[in-house]
Amino acid sequence: MGSQHNVLVLSFPNADDLGRSISQLLGLKHRVIQYKIFPDGESYVRLPEEVSGKHVILIQRTYPEPDKRIVEAVLATDALVSHKASLITLILPYLTYARQDKEFLKGEAVSVRAVLKLLSSMGVDNLVVIDVHKPESLKHFKGRYLNVIPVNTWVKCLSKINLVNPAVIAPDIGAAGRAEALSKALGCDYFIIRKARDRVTGEIKHELPERLSMNGRDVVVVDDIISTGGTIANIAKYLRSASAGRIYAVASHGLFVKDSLEKLRSSGLSKVFVLNTVLAREAEDLVEYCDVSKELADAIKESLLGDS
Ligand code: R5P
Repeated sequence: MGSQHNVLVLSFPNADDLGRSISQLLGLKHRVIQYKIFPDGESYVRLPEEVSGKHVILIQRTYPEPDKRIVEAVLATDALVSHKASLITLILPYLTYARQDKEFLKGEAVSVRAVLKLLSSMGVDNLVVIDVHKPESLKHFKGRYLNVIPVNTWVKCLSKINLVNPAVIAPDIGAAGRAEALSKALGCDYFIIRKARDRVTGEIKHELPERLSMNGRDVVVVDDIISTGGTIANIAKYLRSASAGRIYAVASHGLFVKDSLEKLRSSGLSKVFVLNTVLAREAEDLVEYCDVSKELADAIKESLLGDS
């Protein structure tokens, strides 16, 4: 590993907890970005110390208020480039805009491409994300990138419960890789359920296999994002009818928009585990947050700190 004196962790106030824990785990100095909102709503960002010649690891949570958070990351990157940081690593634990990854309907913006092109062109050298919606989207980022699949953290969350003869479920084909990785770590099998979403109304349709019986097995549904909760709630209801035992959901990013919690509660889930990649909601019984700092720090140490 290169000199740790030359590496500085800077976090936005909304990622202060992650900045502190990651810097402690890596033995690095941590400072919080100076930040305020002008009366007209614009964000103001100032570097808290000299960064010239330093590898700066900048951490920002991009949810809620994704647009504002991305702009703030851009402002901080501008300051880092102009103050001659030698290397800029941006950690966006949840890469917002990642679901609009192609032109589903003619004329649509490919949002993830736009965001990644913007960050590259501003001067971000390395981008670190957790469980991006589709890993292939990251090709639009021109520097080096790291997509951390947080299997160890999922397993740690699930170790709090004593799973009985578990099975893992991917709620769509896109989640197959996650389900495979988690089932391997848990030493069990996994099933994939196919899903289609109406691109105009957003309505979800699952092709549920008629004869799947879970025979009282505990089931873990794994996904990258829980947004409206429709995907997980739909699957959970189906799994109950397929004689599952307890039903759990584990996801990397819990956005919990609108009435998602009501939906999830009434679907028969025993618990929903999500990671601290976005700002946590108020505490409540169904949802439990798991800290991804260790897995993030390990990945950064292994892949990005050698050349600092
Ligand atoms: C979609 O392909 C994603 O992997 C998630 O399944 C989806 O974003 C979940 O959204 P919602 O909670 O609104 O169903």
